[in-house]
Amino acid sequence: MIVIGLVQQKGGVGKTTIATNLADTLSRRSYSVLLVDADPQGTARDWAAKSEDVGLTTVGVDRPVVHEELPSIEGFDVAIVDAVGKLEKMTISVIKASDLVLVPIQPSAADLWAVGQVIDHIETRQDITGGTPKARFVISRAIGSSKMGEQVQDILDEAPFGRLESSVNQRVAYARALGEGKSVHDTSDKKAQAEINKLTDQLEQILRADG
Ligand SMILES: Nc1ncnc2c1ncn2[C@@H]1O[C@H](COP(=O)(O)OP(=O)(O)OP(=O)(O)O)[C@@H](O)[C@H]1O
Ligand SMILES: [Mg+2]
Repeated sequence: MIVIGLVQQKGGVGKTTIATNLADTLSRRSYSVLLVDADPQGTARDWAAKSEDVGLTTVGVDRPVVHEELPSIEGFDVAIVDAVGKLEKMTISVIKASDLVLVPIQPSAADLWAVGQVIDHIETRQDITGGTPKARFVISRAIGSSKMGEQVQDILDEAPFGRLESSVNQRVAYARALGEGKSVHDTSDKKAQAEINKLTDQLEQILRADG
């Protein structure tokens, strides 16, 4: 089972939005998908309770034991782990559990203190394991063609891993879908569907590549 973790200690950056849309997209591509809600707020569980996606199973893990419990779960091609923002131990547990970590980052975010910590945790883990997990930033909640803020650009330039080419824009369809147990594929927003498809394509590529 391939494990993809959504990690960012800053709240409201779109972790759950990306996790649910990615889970539904992979499920539509015939993967059997486990959505792991590692946030005691339970937003992904609330979403799943309303969802009609039959290809998707959702579990909640409220303690930082994701890296201990996930390896014993069988029967899925891919697990998407939606990590809680603030709990550092949970962030570390999800990083340990993951083959690929996605770090959503808003282009204009002012509150960037926690990103450095997340990068450090990922690097520490990569040092121990010889490179696992792979990691990428994903630009989230971008508005129009708004330029990257200077501070954000600095972080992207200095970080030990890059960002996905495709980003997730701020769109009404994402906000509506999250509240209704849907993904953007259930809406009429073709642009949102296209960007989530592109993001999923890139993840498939990264996971297929060696090293
Ligand atoms: N691309 C987007 N377009 C429009 N709204 C978005 C987008 N991404 C997230 N939102 C909205 O922003 C809010 C926070 O998003 P989300 O819950 O995905 O963030 P999060 O990182 O999981 O937050 P938390 O740290 O609280 O778990 C939600 O109301 C969601 O609908
Ligand atoms: Mg969330």
